[in-house]
Amino acid sequence: MKPEGVAMVTGASRGIGRAVALELAARGFEVVATMRDPATGADLPALAAERGGRLSVERLDVDRPETIAMPRGLRVLVNNAGIEGEYLAVEDATIDHWRRIFETNVFGVVETTRRAIPEIRASGGGVICNVTSSSLLFPMPFYAAYRASKAAVSAFGESLRTEVAPLGIRVVEILPGPIDTDMLAKSSRPAESGANESYRELADLVFEQRKQIGPFVTPPAQAAAAIAEAVLDDAAPLRHGCDPMSVGSLEGWRGASDEDFMWGFLGLFGIARPEPTTRR
Ligand SMILES: NC(=O)c1ccc[n+]([C@@H]2O[C@H](COP(=O)([O-])OP(=O)(O)OC[C@H]3O[C@@H](n4cnc5c(N)ncnc54)[C@H](OP(=O)(O)O)[C@@H]3O)[C@@H](O)[C@H]2O)c1
Repeated sequence: MKPEGVAMVTGASRGIGRAVALELAARGFEVVATMRDPATGADLPALAAERGGRLSVERLDVDRPETIAMPRGLRVLVNNAGIEGEYLAVEDATIDHWRRIFETNVFGVVETTRRAIPEIRASGGGVICNVTSSSLLFPMPFYAAYRASKAAVSAFGESLRTEVAPLGIRVVEILPGPIDTDMLAKSSRPAESGANESYRELADLVFEQRKQIGPFVTPPAQAAAAIAEAVLDDAAPLRHGCDPMSVGSLEGWRGASDEDFMWGFLGLFGIARPEPTTRR
């Protein structure tokens, strides 16, 4: 598609959303950068203007449907707003914990998207871009609620795609790897699951593994450039990485069997694949 018309980004106050809003403005879209507290994005219009772009800031809290308004001329929606939560074992994660994460990561995306579709259709078509996570490709312990929320968005996007493709609306899913944002910085801690004696050892292993991530961390601006490319490329597939780690992981996932991919992942924790036993 041509970078024309309005692009709206959720969670644009910081991190990936902020970088994507600036990138889409630099590419030529008229950007509406939405966020819970517009004061946090007060510098964005001037930053966009420095690169020749147009950007305005609006309040939008994806947990509060009364704040979700669509701009006229909408052609691109980037569902970026997201939260992570504590890293808990399934037996210790309360339903409130699950509900909090699903409220923002799933229901927020669904509500924003269903309101965006008629506007994008009225503009003659466009793109809905959902930011999920490359953690979907890895069965990480203690990430069940977060990963399940992103998997829900992934399945939602697949079905949505079949509904809106005939309307000229393309659905794109971005599965970021480690991007240098507040969310990633906060994730550098021992998993809360370690408070339960049964999971302490695994929590320690996960934390040790987490410490190895440094060389793979990618700046948000670099991820945003890849996200803009995916939005603009009409021939692009549904799923995209936006940094070297997620691009490589997605490639490996596409090319490997479920079993090979899982044992390759567990190998990172020093857990070896057992020799195959002969069935009688
Ligand atoms: N960074 C990574 O390594 C990574 C990896 C995989 C996936 N992701 C995904 O990428 C997306 C952006 O993550 P990030 O790393 O940029 O995170 P971040 O730095 O924590 O920023 C999260 C953004 O989401 C916003 N947000 C949270 N709840 C919201 C709500 N109810 N309504 C509207 N906005 C809300 C935050 O707004 P406030 O400023 O108001 O809190 C903030 O703008 C998320 O969906 C995340 O799951 C990130």
